[in-house]
Amino acid sequence: MSRSVLQITVLAAAVAAAAAAATAVKPSTLKVIPQPVSVQMRPGSFRLRPGMAITVTAGKPEARQVGVYLANAVAAPTGWKWKITETPKPAGRSNGIALELIKGEFHPEGYNLTITAHSVRIQAATGAGLFYGVQTLLQLLPPEIESSALQHAVWSAPCLHIVDYPRFAWRGLMLDVSRHFFSTDFVKRYIDRMARAKLNLFHWHLVDDNGWRIEIKSLPLLTQVGAWRAPRLGRWGQSEPVKDGEAATDGGFYTQDDIREVVAYARERFITVLPEIEMPGHSLAALASYPELSCTGGPFHVDPGTSFYTKVDNAFCPGNEKTFEFIDRVFTEVAKLFPSEYVHIGGDECYKGFWKICEKCQRRMAEEHLANEEELQSYLVRRAEKILESKGKKLIGWDEILQGGLAPNAAVMSWRGMDGGIAAAKMNHPVVMSPTGFVYLDYYQGDPALEPTTFGRLLLSTVYKFEPEPEGVGAKYILGGQGNLWTESVPNARHAEYMTWPRAFALAETLWSPKTTRNWADFMRRTEAQFQRLDNAQVNYARSVYDVAITPARDSSGKLTLRMSSEIGGTDIYYTIDGTNPDSFLLKYPGASVTVPEEVYVVKAVAWRNGKPSGRVVSILMRELIARLPRPRS
Ligand code: ACM
Ligand code: ZN
Repeated sequence: MSRSVLQITVLAAAVAAAAAAATAVKPSTLKVIPQPVSVQMRPGSFRLRPGMAITVTAGKPEARQVGVYLANAVAAPTGWKWKITETPKPAGRSNGIALELIKGEFHPEGYNLTITAHSVRIQAATGAGLFYGVQTLLQLLPPEIESSALQHAVWSAPCLHIVDYPRFAWRGLMLDVSRHFFSTDFVKRYIDRMARAKLNLFHWHLVDDNGWRIEIKSLPLLTQVGAWRAPRLGRWGQSEPVKDGEAATDGGFYTQDDIREVVAYARERFITVLPEIEMPGHSLAALASYPELSCTGGPFHVDPGTSFYTKVDNAFCPGNEKTFEFIDRVFTEVAKLFPSEYVHIGGDECYKGFWKICEKCQRRMAEEHLANEEELQSYLVRRAEKILESKGKKLIGWDEILQGGLAPNAAVMSWRGMDGGIAAAKMNHPVVMSPTGFVYLDYYQGDPALEPTTFGRLLLSTVYKFEPEPEGVGAKYILGGQGNLWTESVPNARHAEYMTWPRAFALAETLWSPKTTRNWADFMRRTEAQFQRLDNAQVNYARSVYDVAITPARDSSGKLTLRMSSEIGGTDIYYTIDGTNPDSFLLKYPGASVTVPEEVYVVKAVAWRNGKPSGRVVSILMRELIARLPRPRS
């Protein structure tokens, strides 16, 4: 995945061209996300027609594949069935759409898109490049193009010339299907939306304490037992433990045919599917199926959300050879199912307390001269790496795999901030940046008083500040970045979409577009236009940027102050402290924080924009605001 010198030279030339273009034309009014590298607007527009042909470079299956994708994408809303025609030089034709695979100085995922009044021409050196050109073209058409039902719209796109290519090769999004199971159909829909945003890596978190989701034919109990848990509706982390004899009826898994279907579907969209098989911790579902692989022998239940599993027996026993036989069997089947270069082995948050009191673990440590349990974890990861390499795969893991010494060829996914990634890059290991503070999509995206219960806080504007390439670290080792949707508090598909969008738009732009084009106000303008596309596609998303968030603090004299903010910009905030509903007349928030008497029972606030409430009224009891204050240190 690392970028070659040639590509970097091409990039430098294109950046210079982009800079020249940027000075030559007015700022683009396009609503494309991620922002293309360079856009030159031209007068006029191109109108699509029913009988139009898509002409593709002859003898190139990838060009035809992208042509078919485009024809299918427009078929439902327009009612048109476009034909694909192969020809040696597609760009020679007018009155149609030409997808041209040419040898040239293109970034491996880059494309040029030229729209005139008579034709649309996409040129690229790869199928991926053509595909991204098509994604941009679709975003230039009216939002109704996203509908799956026949629409009446003027199907035209503005005349322009775009030169575009990504900043990073790894543009990832992770979906946790263990905490809650998501259907194959939903996963495909999720992948569809990733493709629109030019994200190219789908990290599938397939196993954890709460469910094993991938069929392994040589280990049938993993899905007969490990894929099912007792049903619970309560708050995650506080659910009732499994009762004696209680049936495990909640869950599901993907058959190997399902997996192949998803992988092929993603491949048609130039998306790599990265499987994650967690070890040694977060493995309760596997241990419930095969308790002999633990230090204590169990018995275990697949966890229905009773805790966050911090200090419990949920790790494989690295002292037991059977653990490695298990890993070998799983990886044998996983390696055959997934064409990805890497397999993710997890490695995070492993509680090692049971290793300390396990005879087998302690014997292993003595025999292998391992100084501590961190080194025992590294021993397991190194052996996992050897097993993967014997099957033609590379290993990637969360940054805890650094703790007892990094396996020789491992890549690191840095989630506890960027430090693990920086350390690994300095040791010349490939790195994907995925820090909680910028890309954890399971966190609250607005005031917790308005949002479904979860934890943490990650605003859209914070994602937009994500910078995967830290100063002073060789860019060569930073493959890119990734957003993660953990699903402890995401019980259904609609909510998975709500948590993902629009924050994954911000993620996509930070990973694709040049750092120099980042502009929050313009991104919000384009995001609002994307909302219409998501509406047409019947995809859920959060409108939390339109709401007010309230943050309490104490001033130097100990008085309670409230800061009120709305992310969208261009709003006035109005609030009340007498229990009534705020409109745009009383108590205008002055812009800085306000002091409020503590006898107030409830504070309510709303943002107004263009003469209308922009979002929801947030209503928070004073005692809840006080509970939000940082606790004094004792
Ligand atoms: C993680 O969030 N535990 C990788
Ligand atoms: Zn053990």
